[in-house]
Amino acid sequence: MKRIAILTAGGDTPALNATIYGAVERANALKIEVYGIIRGYAGLVDPRTPHVRLNPLFTTIPELDPCKGGTLLGASRTYVDPAESELLGQIGSRLKKLGIEGLICVGGDGTINGMQPLSEMLPCVLAPKTIDNDLGLNYLDEVHEWNEAGDRKELLTKPQREAIQLDEIINFATPGYATACFVVAQGMERIRTTAESHRRIAIVEVMGRDSGYIPLGSAYGQPDVILIPEVPLDMDRLERRIAELYDLQKHVVISIGEGIVDSTGHQLGAAHKSFDPAGNVVFSGAAEELKRMLVKRFGDEFFDSRRKHESGDSAIFTRKVGHTQRGGRPILFDRFYATQLGGKTVDLLHQGKNNVIATLQWSTKDGFRLDSIPAQRLRDQWGRIHARHVHPSLYDADKFQPSRLGMQYLSTILTSAVGADDIEQLSREIFSPGKLVARYQSVNIDIQRRIETIKDA
Ligand code: F6P
Repeated sequence: MKRIAILTAGGDTPALNATIYGAVERANALKIEVYGIIRGYAGLVDPRTPHVRLNPLFTTIPELDPCKGGTLLGASRTYVDPAESELLGQIGSRLKKLGIEGLICVGGDGTINGMQPLSEMLPCVLAPKTIDNDLGLNYLDEVHEWNEAGDRKELLTKPQREAIQLDEIINFATPGYATACFVVAQGMERIRTTAESHRRIAIVEVMGRDSGYIPLGSAYGQPDVILIPEVPLDMDRLERRIAELYDLQKHVVISIGEGIVDSTGHQLGAAHKSFDPAGNVVFSGAAEELKRMLVKRFGDEFFDSRRKHESGDSAIFTRKVGHTQRGGRPILFDRFYATQLGGKTVDLLHQGKNNVIATLQWSTKDGFRLDSIPAQRLRDQWGRIHARHVHPSLYDADKFQPSRLGMQYLSTILTSAVGADDIEQLSREIFSPGKLVARYQSVNIDIQRRIETIKDA
């Protein structure tokens, strides 16, 4: 194998450059050239197929910084439809023209779907990424629990296995997740003291679509109530708990996953379908919707009777952590394992594997190790890939907090996730006087000089 390509697809994470770096460094050792495709699958769909040589003379280009968030290749939510056979044929001949013998796709569940038809033309492997931490399975045969309709509501009411062993989890954590938890936990802590001073109820919305791993990880910021999309809202119980907490400590902090559903299965924050070909829904504000519901339930009287002379509308406030949880420097856990997984994908291609996913496994005996799984093992019997949900045994729905097992899961990933260099970098860089005089230097400008295209496209 002389030349391979790599692309980053779907929503970005802070650890993408680290994954690319790991792949390129491994390729250097194996004397394989790596071309980076610009803007994910959109770059393949483009007849010019813009690309960058990431390791000319088997030396990694300096623009590729594993400590920098985002992706120097750019990302897009474009994906390749298996039904478009003509387009697929064109992509195949473009890759051939470029001499590409294997493809690494860095992405999540949508990216695997895009990779499937490509894997019929050339060997493809996936390096996992997503801050949502939803790529994988709670246990191997979990895929068989989906019904034909692929209806999440039905899955929620269907009996699942009551308990899981952490050792069984396929793809224990995805690069990007730890950094998202790091940002979210700090967000919770910062909201806390202001809610406390003003005796308010703070509702903090975090990302994660249909999976509640990020709200679960927000537990490190000690929110009083954690609401995950896997457990439909029980408004009576929630109202009681909030009133109880408010009477005790005169303020409440609630962490809410953006994809939270009400008792009928309706997503509170779902605004409209996006232009995302994967059909993902755009969330406009679950926190706002929950606020409206709580203001209605509590009314102004609740706060009046507690000598807080503020209307319900101003005593309850919302904040979204937003895209800050998806950007910036990746913390040590993400950098380290993203780099390892990137390297693993090159090894998999080198070993002649196709349509497989590099995974990060964990066992009680040995801790973390790398492995791989055929992409097909993540598909249900109708061929669909579903976001991994937080297993019920990881969350205590009565206490609105992670369960004991959930705490064990989180601490396995996060206890040592921040490196000393992360702290050092922060104290050195955040108020560096040089920043006041120098403009931000975008990698998009630097990389532009290196972009090549197919000449006779
Ligand atoms: O899937 C990753 C993710 O960050 C979700 O957590 C979030 O809902 C979504 O992407 C946001 O996507 P976009 O940046 O395209 O709005």
